[in-house]
Amino acid sequence: MTADLFESVVDVLPSREAMAEGAVLLRGFARRVEAGLLAALRGIESQAPFRRMFTPGGHQMSVAMTNCGEAGWVTDRSGYRYDAADPESGRAWPAMPAAFCELAESAAREAGFAGFSPDACLINRYEPGARMSLHQDRDEKDFSAPIVSVSLGLPAIFLFGGAKRSDKPQRYRLEHGDVVVWGGPSRLFFHGVAPLAEGEHPALGPKRINLTFRKAR
Ligand code: SIN
Ligand code: FE2
Repeated sequence: MTADLFESVVDVLPSREAMAEGAVLLRGFARRVEAGLLAALRGIESQAPFRRMFTPGGHQMSVAMTNCGEAGWVTDRSGYRYDAADPESGRAWPAMPAAFCELAESAAREAGFAGFSPDACLINRYEPGARMSLHQDRDEKDFSAPIVSVSLGLPAIFLFGGAKRSDKPQRYRLEHGDVVVWGGPSRLFFHGVAPLAEGEHPALGPKRINLTFRKAR
């Protein structure tokens, strides 16, 4: 009984792990606001449903995406870009919920990037088998703002490399409520996600959701 209680408390206690200069993993940081995040996510999804976009090379991505905020990241045959409108509906992306903004700003502050004010939130949905190959986030106008990345649902293996594509990535198991922040010297580091393993998450079922906050413009 006492041991169980202790373990469940340890389980939700936030902790930090340095990943590289400018990069930190804040374990459990989003757990205290998860109900608000999931409720806000349902609202966004009903206005701008998840869809699997096409890369400029014509491949359909395994990860389904949507966005909220002033600008949304999109990809199609003409390239990668930020767009104020959802190309599926022609309407503006849903506004960024206060719960999203507050979490992103406080995680950035905790990681040493006070004053972060995201205008874009890309929402990635992974089902078992979905993956994201190594890439840099470089479609933003200026790289002085960090990236704040929130994991919800099934655990995933996050690959975090270096400045060169050939740098061997470190592997981090990201769980429900974990937040990764990278900026400054690691802002352009290569990263990706290994194919999602099968599983069933108590709150989200057989999927993982990732919220990626950025200052795009
Ligand atoms: C991304 O790099 O856009 C996604 C990262 C993740 O899903 O953890
Ligand atoms: Fe990325």
